[in-house]
Formats: sequence, structure tokens, C-alpha cells
Amino acid sequence: MATRIIDRINELKKIKNAVILAHYYCPDDVQSIADYVGDSFYLAKTAKETSADIIVFAGVRFMGESAKILNPDKKVLMPDMNADCPMAHMADTEQIAKVRSEYPDAAVVCYVNSTAELKCASDVCVTSANAETIARSLPNKHIYFIPDQNLGRHIARSVTDKNFIFNNGHCPIHNDIEEDELLKVKAEHPQAEVCSHPETRECILKHSDFIGSTAGIIDHVTHSDKNEFIICTEIGINHELTKKNPDKKFHYLGSKCVCSDMKLNTPEAILNVLETENNEIILSDEIMEKALIPLERMLRLGQ
Ligand code: 13P
Ligand code: SF4
Repeated sequence: MATRIIDRINELKKIKNAVILAHYYCPDDVQSIADYVGDSFYLAKTAKETSADIIVFAGVRFMGESAKILNPDKKVLMPDMNADCPMAHMADTEQIAKVRSEYPDAAVVCYVNSTAELKCASDVCVTSANAETIARSLPNKHIYFIPDQNLGRHIARSVTDKNFIFNNGHCPIHNDIEEDELLKVKAEHPQAEVCSHPETRECILKHSDFIGSTAGIIDHVTHSDKNEFIICTEIGINHELTKKNPDKKFHYLGSKCVCSDMKLNTPEAILNVLETENNEIILSDEIMEKALIPLERMLRLGQ
């Protein structure tokens, strides 16, 4: 990456009191220039705590929206407005209303990978790092888990005293990871531990030694005395894994596990929004007010 771009980004950050947040799936050069890099839960907490006036959110749209909802007075800029998570749209408010009428005591538990509109219709948000803790802490017997059925089913397998109702959303990237391919890589590296994100299907999770959020996987690998790992999640995690564990060996599955939306975040795009202040997240007051309730509840219950 050109030092001219990095220098100008650093200069503008100082002048404008701006901070760059980046998800682990962003390109390596973006993770290198970010002030904070993390999983969805860490980034939401960091967005809430920052004293910066401008947050540049290198991630996908729902992350920028959550940062704005948690910080109504700050300017939240997306490096590329087209960076959106397809799963965030895979539930609908009519279906939520239908489930609520069938199960009046149901809690609508909304994975943070969701539109602000879906959050408005939900009782509590969760991320992959805190979904189980939050589901357990709810008094409700019925839980309608949206939009990700893979994460929902994974949580339901351990929270057995609740009745889960699932929705058929999924992450197209994680959902496409194939059992055959995992078994092939496992046979080639029998000594390697399998670490998977809970957005993958049960046919992957059942072969996994560790299941967790991106930060959970990084933490597990870093503290493990094993030396070799098969990683079932998006390839961008390799940046932090190798930075923290230069002597450990990582295997990934094929070339399909790439989130093209996350890759729209480039240093050039970050520089552009810092210069122009374009691509600001704007939400109506009503949406901000309603979506804040499940997000704040997540921050409280997810600790
Ligand atoms: P986490 O980083 O919270 O594990 O989430 C993964 C993801 O798909 C974000 O879009
Ligand atoms: Fe959405 Fe999947 Fe990309 Fe995460 S990896 S942002 S869940 S499409």
C-alpha cells in the first residue's frame, strides 16, 4: 500500500478526530491501518465507547448502522455503501408478527447481522460471541431466532430448556462450506484441530474441535498448545491469526470462503470518505430509537 495513502489517512484522522474500525474479514491492508480490529461484538462495544467525532466503519452496512444507533451524535461513514451482508435481509417483519401472535411469550432474538428495521421488531440482539449467554438469560420459554438458522440451531443444541423457532436465513459464504471438503482436508492433516464459525452448517460443526466467533477462534488458537489448525470461516481471519501466531500452520477450505462485501473496504475507499465525508449512515429518528433497545440490551446481557 502506498505510504502516501497511509500518511494522508493518518493526517485526516488527526484533523477530524476520526477513528477507523475494521472487521477481521476486511482485506489485510485495511486491518493494518485500522485503529481497532475485531469481531462484531467488540466493534459494537468499541463504537459505543469511542470519543472520536467520526467513525469510519470498515465492515458491512449492518455494522455501520449499529455504530450509528449506538452513537446518534457521531458521524458514521462507510468506505463503500455497497458493502452489505445478504443475510441481514433474510427475515421479515410480517413473519415476526405471525410468530408473535402464535407464541405470545416468544422473545425475538436477532443476530446483529440484520437490518435496522429487523432490529426494531426484535427484543434483543446477539452476536456469535454472546448468543448462548443471552439466550440462557432470557425468561421466555420460546425464542424466535432471526435471521441465521445455523447460529440459531447451534445455540439451541446447548440451550435445551427453551423452544427455538427458526427462520431460514443463512450466510451464503459460511453455508457453502462443504462437509466433503472438510473431511478431505482433515484426512490430509489429521493432526490439525478444526475451528469453525457457528454460521457454518451442523455437518461442519459436528467435526469441529472448537466453535466460536472470529475473536473466539483467534483467542482459542493463540492459547492452544497445538500447532496446526483447519479454519472454517472467512479467509480474512488469516491476517490476525498469522500475526498473533507466526509459527502455527493454518489450512483453509478452497477458495470460496471469501466475503466479497467485506473486500469492498479498501485503503483508497477509506481515504476517500475521510476526505469527502460521503457515505454517511443516516437513519430516521424512529428507527434509531427502536433499534437502540435490543442493541443496548445485548451490550448489557452479553458481558
Ligand atoms: P463475528 O466476527 O462476530 O464472529 O461475525 C462474523 C460475521 O459474519 C460478521 O459478518
Ligand atoms: Fe454477511 Fe457472511 Fe459476509 Fe459475514 S461473511 S458479512 S455473515 S455475508
